[in-house]
Amino acid sequence: MQSNQQKKRKIIVTAGLPYANGSIHIGHLVEYIQTDIFVRYHKLVGNECVYICGDDTHGTPVMISARNAGVTPEEMIKRVHQEHSKDFADFYVNFDNFYTTHSEENREFSEFIYSKMKEKDLILETQIEQLFCEHDKMFLPDRFIKGACPKCKAPDQYGDSCDSCSATYAVTEVIEPYCSLCKTKPVIKKSTHYFFRLSKMADKLRAWIGEDHLQPEVANKLAEWFKDGLRDWDISRDAPYFGFKIPGSEDKYFYVWLDAPVGYMASLKNWAVRNGRTFEQMWQDKDTEIYHFIGKDILYFHTLFWPAMLMTAGFKTPDNVFIHGMLKVDNEKMSKSKGTFINAKTYLKYLNPEYLRYYYASKLGSGIEDINLSVKDFLYKVNSELVGNITNIASRVAGMLNKSFDGVIGAMDEDGSALYDKCVAAAPQIGGFYEGREFSQAVSAVIKLADDVNKYVDNKKPWALLKENAGECHKVLSSVLNCFKNFMIYLKPVLPKYVADAEAILGVASLEWRDIQKPLEGHKINEFKPLAVRIEQEKIDGMISESKESQKTFKTEVKAAEKKAADEKGSKASGGKVEGVLAASEITIEDFQKVDLRVATVVAADDVEGADKLLRLTVSVGGVTKNIFAGIKSHYKKEDLVGKLVVVVNNLKPRKMKFGMSEGMVIAASIGEKMALLTPMSPVEDGAKIS
Ligand code: MSP
Ligand code: ZN
Repeated sequence: MQSNQQKKRKIIVTAGLPYANGSIHIGHLVEYIQTDIFVRYHKLVGNECVYICGDDTHGTPVMISARNAGVTPEEMIKRVHQEHSKDFADFYVNFDNFYTTHSEENREFSEFIYSKMKEKDLILETQIEQLFCEHDKMFLPDRFIKGACPKCKAPDQYGDSCDSCSATYAVTEVIEPYCSLCKTKPVIKKSTHYFFRLSKMADKLRAWIGEDHLQPEVANKLAEWFKDGLRDWDISRDAPYFGFKIPGSEDKYFYVWLDAPVGYMASLKNWAVRNGRTFEQMWQDKDTEIYHFIGKDILYFHTLFWPAMLMTAGFKTPDNVFIHGMLKVDNEKMSKSKGTFINAKTYLKYLNPEYLRYYYASKLGSGIEDINLSVKDFLYKVNSELVGNITNIASRVAGMLNKSFDGVIGAMDEDGSALYDKCVAAAPQIGGFYEGREFSQAVSAVIKLADDVNKYVDNKKPWALLKENAGECHKVLSSVLNCFKNFMIYLKPVLPKYVADAEAILGVASLEWRDIQKPLEGHKINEFKPLAVRIEQEKIDGMISESKESQKTFKTEVKAAEKKAADEKGSKASGGKVEGVLAASEITIEDFQKVDLRVATVVAADDVEGADKLLRLTVSVGGVTKNIFAGIKSHYKKEDLVGKLVVVVNNLKPRKMKFGMSEGMVIAASIGEKMALLTPMSPVEDGAKIS
């Protein structure tokens, strides 16, 4: 696509900002990998392209998650930011800036946009009625209200939609609504809110959509919404809220979706000042191309609210919003119970990140239909295409070249040269596929060429030629490696690490698109190292079963938290039924009473020789001293434990361990790698019974 005469394009690319209250999972990765491939392609051909992202940190769910974790929202978003950054780096998602919406740049831009909305008379103040929880002292977002579905009467559905019959409805229609945090019945309360008058922007938006910025399917969808008329948008929320205070208001905050997309600009500005640029030179330059990649679940925000905000404040609107579908696993929604809701971290314990990159690339097109990860197909594509076809090419010839020809690539033979020319000639087409986000076509074009190369090797039989005609053999190997070099360029956006390893074998500097035309001749390569190995089914099974496991612990924790909240309220609110702490099986109150839980004081904590995870705790339970071995050494320092109150199972049958008798058990909560000992909220004598 890109010829030498063409001038460098300047491109800003964003991916949706992940919420700061959850882990990155393989669904998210569809988007971040898709966008990363697009950006890497543009960098490879020599365009100036910046990949912008960051965490979406504001809103009620973040505030509540932090509260449940017992930390401040600031602390939580800091932790999550580190976790997300690591996950992305591990998948070779190479943001130029991964910033945060909780930043001064973002506050300034958000306030500025709001001031322009006001100036242009696009803000309407109205009193609205909303559900308010007297117990939690807050207005409840729809997702925090549960109750029976007004259509099918299924109990315990969310305030906006029913999982059982898929109906969507207004929160005020929910039957017997309750607060999902504390299970009490909310009351209706009035509050003044600020609305952005989107309806007044309809003509401008319609004109923008008419300018061909969107995929045709998306434009059609929007046309439907226009027919129904655009509704004004509530951009304010009442305290308590984690976000930016609205200037001039007493206690109102910008709704998270107002400042979230503004985060794109904030992240870009933060990058620009650190890289000798200004925000204006980047975003506001009329020659800059701005592209947002998002999933279809957040289309409305990006194709209506966001351009309307930008227009109002005099910022450049995006040149395109590229929308992809949602991830399915074996044709079903990712499911926690089936173990297909797989976190980035869990995946990485079992599989090579580039296998997922390769697979997604081989599935992705420019449309908005959902993307199906079929486990069988994943195995097949990686094992037979990436390993069996592409990797095989290099492993068949590189070793022989090193052994018999001092590792020096020489001239090509006639057939090989023709094959190489074919591999060169594919460049505009493959480049066009990347540019048009038809990655699956780019990958299959390479695979087709690789098939040809493998056939060429089969025909020429270099292993036989070696004895009969070493000169011919050398030419065959040289032709094959030159074709392989081009495959590496073509696949570089998809497989950055794999290609870097191949570059090391080929003994070349970082390959660029223009190197497609330059065959290697008289060039020494290095020792061959395996580039990729086959996936075994057991790895996938392990990953799926661990994803089920971690969900069990999570469910248990959530249920425990819900139960605690319900108990505080006398447990009647949940219909008199006390929910079990363990999701797995119910026990009776008598069962529970068999466990003698007591408060204990840690008197001493010592290392255990020969056990690197254990500590020997000496605890006092109401004057009785006990010896307990606990697997907490990697979580606590010995000296920090002494004098602390903990909870022990007092009537656990003593167990003889390699290191001595363990006369009880200390109670701890754990999720994933994290663990916390439980301790009474306020001081109490040890020996106190817990019930
Ligand atoms: N915070 C908002 C986006 C704000 S953008 C100004 C959000 N966050 S998210 O974490 O839920 O999703 C981030 C991006 O990942 C979104 O574009 C979303 O569409 C995409 N995906 C999240 N789950 C996905 C799948 N299961 N499948 C495909 N894409 C997915 O929305
Ligand atoms: Zn409540």
